[in-house]
Amino acid sequence: MGGGTIGQRGDAQARQATWQVLIEHHRDVAGRDLRDLFAQDAERGSRFSIAAAGLYLDYSKHLITEQTIPLLVQLAEACGLREAIDAMFAGEPINVTERRPALHVALRMPKGARIVVEGVDVVEQVHHVLDQMRHFADKVRSGQWRGFTGKPIRTIINIGIGGSDLGPVMAYHALRPYAEPNLDLRFVANVDPWDCAQALAGADPEQTLIVVSSKTFTTAETMANAQAARRWLIDALGSDAAVERHFVAVSTNADAVRAFGIDTANMFGFWDWVGGRYSMDSAIGLSTMLAIGPKQFEQLLAGFHAMDEHFRSAPFTANLPVIMGLLTVWYRNFFGAASVGVMPYEQRLSRFPAYLQQLTMESNGKRVMLDGRPVPHATAPVLWGEPGTNGQHSFFQLLHQGTELVPVDFIAFARSATPIGDQQDQLLANALAQAQALAFGRTADEVRAAGTAEWLVPHQVVPGNRPNSMILASELTPFHLGTLIALYEHSVYTQSVIWGIDAFDQWGVELGKLLARTLVPAVQGGELPAQVDSSTRNLLATLAMLADLR
Ligand code: F6P
Repeated sequence: MGGGTIGQRGDAQARQATWQVLIEHHRDVAGRDLRDLFAQDAERGSRFSIAAAGLYLDYSKHLITEQTIPLLVQLAEACGLREAIDAMFAGEPINVTERRPALHVALRMPKGARIVVEGVDVVEQVHHVLDQMRHFADKVRSGQWRGFTGKPIRTIINIGIGGSDLGPVMAYHALRPYAEPNLDLRFVANVDPWDCAQALAGADPEQTLIVVSSKTFTTAETMANAQAARRWLIDALGSDAAVERHFVAVSTNADAVRAFGIDTANMFGFWDWVGGRYSMDSAIGLSTMLAIGPKQFEQLLAGFHAMDEHFRSAPFTANLPVIMGLLTVWYRNFFGAASVGVMPYEQRLSRFPAYLQQLTMESNGKRVMLDGRPVPHATAPVLWGEPGTNGQHSFFQLLHQGTELVPVDFIAFARSATPIGDQQDQLLANALAQAQALAFGRTADEVRAAGTAEWLVPHQVVPGNRPNSMILASELTPFHLGTLIALYEHSVYTQSVIWGIDAFDQWGVELGKLLARTLVPAVQGGELPAQVDSSTRNLLATLAMLADLR
């Protein structure tokens, strides 16, 4: 597929027929109760569980019967999922609207593997950059790399936004036990001056390395923050020549990097076939490698790769990302669930939901199919979440007794990196308890049996039948973080294939950027854009007035 011959994958008739069967199957399943389904099958917990690539997925607490997954797999086959997976791994231009491959799987292939795109072995290119990153990371971490005044680096500031920020921040929090304690990592994303001011506050310019991460090297927020950091450095060290010892770039745009004043010898490249939200394991992971070191970064890549291989080779009925993707379709399209929750019972994954928001919603928040026709049904649900147990004390009430159906993914690890007393046991017990409470609830009879006054009974009933997955692993290591991210990446791709949409473009974010550019002069007191609407005109006037108020 590509420009000119854009078409939908799969067999339209088979797809339509299976969709119809699933509508009928949904009518049957929607009337079932998880308590009964578990009572009827003593082995349901293990029957609906899969282990792969170091992860364990229990999907038994979903509103499914023995027929559901086979029917959803039939839908996947009718939509051409097998061909779509093969096309991704072969480097075909599956990013149809941008006419290029989406080859993040090449970023974690071992040395010696080959994917040839337009006559070039991209895996070889990947390893060339990985070697360059390793070499640099070793020099910085060992103190061999010196700043302009001869001092070693102690603070690293990653400046980037979206995919050039969320992955690195998330990974830094997740992998803190593996991070070099003598390096202080900071992240700047927002054009809000507070973000940059906070990151620079207290940093010693003589010992600070700025990593400017931007695929395009044109993103307004990143450029503004990078210029601010450049001024801060030059003001402190008194020379433009300091820039080359304190700034490195991660980008696909060598010209813009050079124009900024960064030596391209200190630029770490990647390629247009790496989407921003799929880039944390490319050179965008430089800050991650600086923090955890090349060896642990290799483990991270190995985790990604293990899940890639599972996705590529496992039969769909035993394929973790396929099953997760199909369950998302099941709830979104057949139950009408508008949002999904991801609740890591691991504080170090506090930024994981934010990372997944870009991955899932920028990928699949689409309204037209590959051929430009409107998608005939809903696409990506809103994704949100917070670490447990914190969420239990705020929004879990809605999950248990609210009127919305919100499927939840729980993520938990058997061991803590920093055990204190029995706290990890308490954490795990809470994860299991929430999954049980959502699935099985508490009936009116059980409430009465606890001696509750009759008028309070309806308030204390917990309906249950609220679907959830449990994802388990031994410990949050770099390897397991890699497998977990790849699991969601491939689940997102699976969903996009069912919906027939392009998971790798993001045209919707462009309009806001364009409008912001035209409004900056007006905010600064200059001319209003032609034909500005009355609301925006009024808001600009109000802002001008407020700026003068004390
Ligand atoms: O505006 C959205 C977006 O293009 C994301 O897709 C991307 O991750 C982010 O901006 C940052 O882009 P860049 O790495 O080019 O600065």
